[in-house]
Amino acid sequence: MLDIEEFHELVMKRRSIRGYDKSRDVPDDLIGKILECARWAPSGGNGQPWEFIVIRDEKTRNRIADLFLKQQEHKKEMEMAVRGDAKMTGAGFRHAPVHLIVLGDPRVKETYPVRTMLDKADSHFYTGLANATLLIHLAAASLGLASQYVSDVSSPYMETMLKVLLGIPDPLRIYHLIPIGYASAPVLPRPRRELEEIVHYERYDMKKYRDERAFEKFVLTLSRRGSYGKKSWVEDDLQS
Ligand SMILES: Cc1cc2nc3c(=O)[nH]c(=O)nc-3n(C[C@H](O)[C@H](O)[C@H](O)COP(=O)(O)O)c2cc1C
Repeated sequence: MLDIEEFHELVMKRRSIRGYDKSRDVPDDLIGKILECARWAPSGGNGQPWEFIVIRDEKTRNRIADLFLKQQEHKKEMEMAVRGDAKMTGAGFRHAPVHLIVLGDPRVKETYPVRTMLDKADSHFYTGLANATLLIHLAAASLGLASQYVSDVSSPYMETMLKVLLGIPDPLRIYHLIPIGYASAPVLPRPRRELEEIVHYERYDMKKYRDERAFEKFVLTLSRRGSYGKKSWVEDDLQS
């Protein structure tokens, strides 16, 4: 049984890795262990919305990476138009020997109570998928493996193209792609807000409330948008 120190160590060990060592494969039994953890994720109504596609074929992985780069073009154009700056992540994940696609079956909403179906169906559906996804990342980290969120696979263009490429039936949805492999280089932890800033006792402590200025500072320094300027946090991110 993991104690809290070991659990914390595991949580700290998980990082979003965007560069993979193409010479190191990941055996099937490790992928099996990771997915065995994922299926024990909690989900609304125990609806278990998840299914997974394990992709090893190099041609398919490259096709996925190429589709990803294509959809980045619009994303970049939009960033430039609105913010005047755009540093996009590359498709280094093509070198991860395994691509896991997390699928969601929205029909599981039938497992929710009637009121939940009316007001929280989508949120419960995605929370279930997020729980399974996080377990995949943690399980991978526990095995010394690297993983990453590639959420753009659910953009309309990529989801449509991938559903055809991989023969995914309607009404299933593509949630995330999780590349799994070994990191090509170590990655430093990205910044987090301090504990004392985010925890309130008994009542909301207004001294901790972030006004507009403080919030803008957060976005431009500690968030991923802000961290683009800090080389040490992002040199891995911009590989392709
Ligand atoms: C819902 C969600 C979507 C994300 N989408 C992407 C993505 O498309 N590409 C990517 O490289 N990282 C993605 N990330 C990873 C975040 O950028 C990352 O978790 C954050 O910067 C903190 O870094 P860390 O995971 O190394 O702690 C996503 C994370 C979450 C939870």
